[in-house]
Amino acid sequence: MKHRHELNNVMVTGGCGFIGTNFIRHLFRKPEFTGRIINVDKLTYSGNLENLTDIQETYGNGRYVFVQADICDAPAMAETLERYAVDTIVHFAAESHVDRSILGPREFVRTNIEGTFVLLEAARQRKGRPAPRFHHVSTDEVYGSLGLTGAFTETTPYDPRSPYSASKAASDHLVRAYYHTYGLPITISNCSNNYGPYQFPEKVIPVMLLNMLEGKPLPVYGDGLNVRDWLFVDDHCEAIWQILTRGRIGETYNIGGNNESTNIALVKTLCQVTARLTGKFPAQYESLITYVKDRPGHDRRYAIDASKIARELGWRPTVTDLTEGLTMTVRWYLEHPTWVERVRSGEYRAWMAKNYTRREEELSK
Ligand code: NAD
Ligand code: TYD
Repeated sequence: MKHRHELNNVMVTGGCGFIGTNFIRHLFRKPEFTGRIINVDKLTYSGNLENLTDIQETYGNGRYVFVQADICDAPAMAETLERYAVDTIVHFAAESHVDRSILGPREFVRTNIEGTFVLLEAARQRKGRPAPRFHHVSTDEVYGSLGLTGAFTETTPYDPRSPYSASKAASDHLVRAYYHTYGLPITISNCSNNYGPYQFPEKVIPVMLLNMLEGKPLPVYGDGLNVRDWLFVDDHCEAIWQILTRGRIGETYNIGGNNESTNIALVKTLCQVTARLTGKFPAQYESLITYVKDRPGHDRRYAIDASKIARELGWRPTVTDLTEGLTMTVRWYLEHPTWVERVRSGEYRAWMAKNYTRREEELSK
């Protein structure tokens, strides 16, 4: 029988972001997970503590701890690993948006490269206990851009083209180096574009949806024929769980949705789904489609070959129909107008300032 890694004290970095939030919720839904989650998040513009208010209420007296900290803060990372006897790190924290990385790459280098380095060092230098298992969440964008055919495998050479993907590629290399050089028990996953609840309205699906609802133009970059492979976020979370519990140390696993679409087809499907759910005609939304100037260095096509994780761990995406996944996503946004309003207005920041558990308070307990 294969060894199963036990998760007792799981440090999730970036747990207040889109995928981290979904992952924490996913873990608490699993009956076989009986451990504690330590959510370490700096709360940048894309981190929203309110995403987990109910989790704090349900599990806050033992199984869930929030620590507001920067992953670049080495003493804070070492202290957190020590205080909470962390045995597993799931590293999501990052600057995650390509357009922002074009406008200001510095923060991407800092958080994605230096932050990952600081975490790796904290894990490696930890005294008195075995080094924690370190799972690094990365992107298919490290592999560069595909032509009309083919798909990225785990052995595709790295060829990042944006400051974002270059910073993620550098972090992947560091993580792998810590395995080969220091024997740190790492795993890496490279996944395609995620979608679903809690995605910050800067990524294409929530941008288009919220603009539709407000009758604003839907800005399609370039000719709209760039292709992305859409992965429903909960499928991604389950893949990470499988890697954490049953994956092979030192290995990389690609995770994809088996759901390729051009951007223009995606936006049109989103128009249809939203029209159905809001009682409008799709044409009303489609008339808002506006082609705008292309993103510089815009990768043409991403596609994932996820056969390794299917073969080794039996994982496959369950949501492979874009209409189905978009219906779940749009329904969530329509049912959470307050979340949308607060995230967009910045009001949640004031709420957070009043309500978050300060790292200092938490650590002095
Ligand atoms: P996100 O931007 O929604 O969330 C990022 C989170 O990290 C936020 O909560 C933010 O506050 C936190 N954070 C940022 N800098 C930090 C720092 N210095 N210290 C501590 N916390 C910090 O991002 P996401 O979409 O949830 O992505 C999560 C991870 O998944 C990232 O590593 C990203 O590269 C990777 N990924 C995302 C996608 C996608 O489609 N969203 C696809 C492939 C890989
Ligand atoms: P995005 O959600 O930013 O993810 P990524 O750049 O990591 O793939 O963009 C997905 C695709 O949608 C990408 O090809 C760029 C395109 N796009 C638009 O056409 N309009 C937009 O307003 C945005 C944000 C993205």
